[in-house]
Amino acid sequence: MVKFTDIVKAFASGIAQSRLSLVGAIVTTVVAPVLLVSVILDIQGFITNPYFGFVIYLILGPLFIAGLVMVFVGLFFFRGREAVGLFTYEYLKEQFTDATKFTKVQKIIFLSVFLTILNILIVTLLSYSGYHYSESVAFCGQFCHTVMNPEYTAYQNSPHSRVKCVDCHIGEGAKWFVKAKLSGVRQLFAVAFNTYSRPIETPVHGLRPARETCEECHRPEFFHGDRLYIKDKFLEDEHNTHVRTVLLLKVGSGGYRGMRAQGIHWHVAPENRIVYRHADYQREAIYEVRLTKPDGTQIVFRDPDAPETANASSEGGERVMDCIDCHNRPTHVFLPPGEALDQKLVTGEIPASLPYIKREALKVITADYPSTEEAKNQIATRLRAWYKANYPDLVERNAPLLEQAIRGVQHAYTENVFPEMRIGWNTYKNFLGHRDDSGCFRCHNETLATDAGETISMDCQTCHVILAEDEPNPPILRQLQCPAE
Ligand code: HEC
Ligand code: HEC
Ligand code: HEC
Ligand code: HEC
Ligand code: HEC
Repeated sequence: MVKFTDIVKAFASGIAQSRLSLVGAIVTTVVAPVLLVSVILDIQGFITNPYFGFVIYLILGPLFIAGLVMVFVGLFFFRGREAVGLFTYEYLKEQFTDATKFTKVQKIIFLSVFLTILNILIVTLLSYSGYHYSESVAFCGQFCHTVMNPEYTAYQNSPHSRVKCVDCHIGEGAKWFVKAKLSGVRQLFAVAFNTYSRPIETPVHGLRPARETCEECHRPEFFHGDRLYIKDKFLEDEHNTHVRTVLLLKVGSGGYRGMRAQGIHWHVAPENRIVYRHADYQREAIYEVRLTKPDGTQIVFRDPDAPETANASSEGGERVMDCIDCHNRPTHVFLPPGEALDQKLVTGEIPASLPYIKREALKVITADYPSTEEAKNQIATRLRAWYKANYPDLVERNAPLLEQAIRGVQHAYTENVFPEMRIGWNTYKNFLGHRDDSGCFRCHNETLATDAGETISMDCQTCHVILAEDEPNPPILRQLQCPAE
C-alpha cells in the first residue's frame, strides 16, 4: 500500500528542486485556507464591506493563481536537465508499465491529481463568486468611493435603486461582458493612478443601446396612457408659499396590440426610426434629425445654418434615438437647486413654517464650496447668522426648528453636489422635459426645418395639457380629490 507520507515526500522533493516551484508552493499553501474561508464567508454574505471583496478577488485570488502557475512552471521548465529527463515519454512508459513499482513519478502524479482537483475547486469557487462580486452594486458603487459616490448616492434615491448597475451598464451576453471587464480594468488603473476625469463625463458614449438594456425590463410598445404630473414648488416669499403645477402628460405608447403609436412614446415604436446628428459631446446641439416613416419615406429636419457636411467638430456624431435620449437620468437623478429644496420642503424635512427659508436656503446652497465638509459648515453658519440677525425672537423661542431646517438644507446639498468630483448644480442635465430650452426642445424647436419649412411641433398641447401652473390651490386637484398639501 502507498503511504501518504511517501507521496508528500516525493512531491515535496520534486518541488524543492526548483526555487520557483518552492516559492509558488509556499504562496499557494499560505493563501489557500485564507481564501477558501473568505470566499465562503463572502458567498454566505457574512461580511458586506466592499473592501473585503476587493481583497479576496483582486489580491488573494490572483496571488493564489500566480502561486499555482509558479509551481507548475517550476516543475516542468526550470529544473536541472536530469530532472527534466524524468518526464520523457520513454521514462514515463517504463515507470507505468512496471506494475510492481510505485515510483517517485507516480507519487508526484498521484498527489498532483489530488491537488489539482482541490485547486480546481478553489478556482471555480473563486471565479463564481468573483464574477458576482464584479457585477455587484457594492463593487460598482461603493468600492471606488469618491469616484462613484455621486452616481451611487443619486441611484439610491431613485426608482431603480433595486436594479443592479450592470443591468443598465452591461446587460446580457458575452461580447458586452468582455467589453465591460476590459473597460473595468482600465478604470481600475485610472483610479489607482488618479487619472480619471472629474466629473465623470456624460453621456456615456460607450453605453449599450437601450434596446438591449432598458427593454429587457420595459416593453417599449407598452401603453402608458396619459399620466397626471403634479409638481410642488415653494416660492421665495416670507411664507414660502406652496404652489403646484399640474400637467396631463401624454405618455402614450409605441403601438400596443395593434394600437397606433401615439403620444410621447411614439418615438420608440420600432417602425419610427429617428437618427440625429449633434455637434457637441453632450448631444445638446442637434443640427439634423432624420425621420424614417413606416412606409420608408424619409423626412429631414435641418438647421439651415449648420454645416452641410457631417460633423461640425470632432466631438459631434450621429445617433439612433432611443430611451436614453429622453430618460438620460433614469437613476442618477441630480436635481436643480430649487427642486432639491422643494422636495425637502414638501416632505417637511425642511419646515416650510420657517420664514424665508426657501430664499435663504437657495442663496447658501448655490454658493461655491471647496469640499462637502466646508459646505455643510458654511450652510449652518450662514443660516444661523441670518436668522439671528433677522428673526432673533424666533431663534430664541424655537431653536430646534432652525436646526432641523439646516439639516434638511445640508441634505439637499449633499445629495446633489459633490465638490470632490467637481459636480455642481447643473453638471448633469436632465433631458426629460425642456429645462433651459434643452431636452425635448433640442429637436422640438423653430430652427430645425424641412426644405418645405415644416418644423417638429412645439405646440404645448402636443406633449401635455397644462391643467394648472404654479397655483396655490389648483381647482383641478380639488376636482380630482387629490389631498391638499
Ligand atoms: C436604470 C439604469 C441604470 C442603473 C441601474 C445604473 N445606471 Fe449609471 N447610468 C445610466 C444612464 C442612462 C447613464 C447616462 C447615460 C448617458 O447619458 O449617456 C448613466 C451614467 C452613469 C455614469 C456616468 C456619469 C453620469 O452621471 O452620467 C456613471 C459613473 C454611472 N452611471 C455609474 C453607475 C453606478 C455605479 C451604478 C450602480 C450603483 C449605476 N450607474 C446604475 C443608467 C443606469
Ligand atoms: C432590471 C430591470 C430594469 C432595467 C434594466 C431598467 N428598469 Fe426602469 N424600472 C424597473 C422597475 C422595476 C421600475 C419600477 C420601480 C418602482 O415603481 O418601484 C422601473 C421604473 C422606470 C421608470 C419610471 C420611473 C418613475 O418615475 O416612476 C422609468 C422612466 C424607467 N424605469 C426607465 C428605464 C430606462 C430608461 C432604463 C434603461 C436605461 C431602465 N428603466 C432600465 C426596472 C428596470
Ligand atoms: C421622446 C422622449 C422619450 C423616449 C424616447 C422614451 N420615453 Fe419614457 N417617458 C417619457 C416621458 C416624458 C415620460 C413621462 C414623464 C415622467 O414619467 O416623469 C415617460 C414615462 C416613462 C415610464 C413611466 C410611465 C408611467 O406610467 O409612469 C416608463 C417606464 C418609460 N417612460 C420607459 C421608457 C423606455 C423603456 C423607453 C425606451 C424604449 C422610453 N421610455 C423612451 C419620454 C420618453
Ligand atoms: C432627437 C430629436 C427628438 C427629441 C430629443 C424629441 N423628439 Fe419628439 N419628435 C421628434 C420627431 C422627428 C417627431 C415627428 C415630427 C413629425 O412627424 O412632424 C417627434 C414627435 C413627437 C410627438 C408627436 C408624436 C405623434 O403622435 O405624432 C410627441 C408627443 C413628442 N415628439 C414628444 C417629445 C417629448 C416629450 C420629448 C422630450 C422628452 C421629445 N419629443 C424629444 C424628434 C424628437
Ligand atoms: C415636445 C414635448 C413638449 C412640448 C412641445 C412642450 N412641453 Fe412642457 N413639458 C414636457 C415634458 C415631457 C414635461 C415634464 C418634464 C418632467 O417630467 O420633468 C414638461 C413640463 C412642463 C412644465 C412643468 C415644468 C416643471 O416645473 O416641471 C411646464 C410649465 C411646461 N412644460 C410648459 C410648457 C409650455 C408652456 C409649452 C409650450 C410653449 C410646452 N411646455 C411645450 C414636454 C413638452
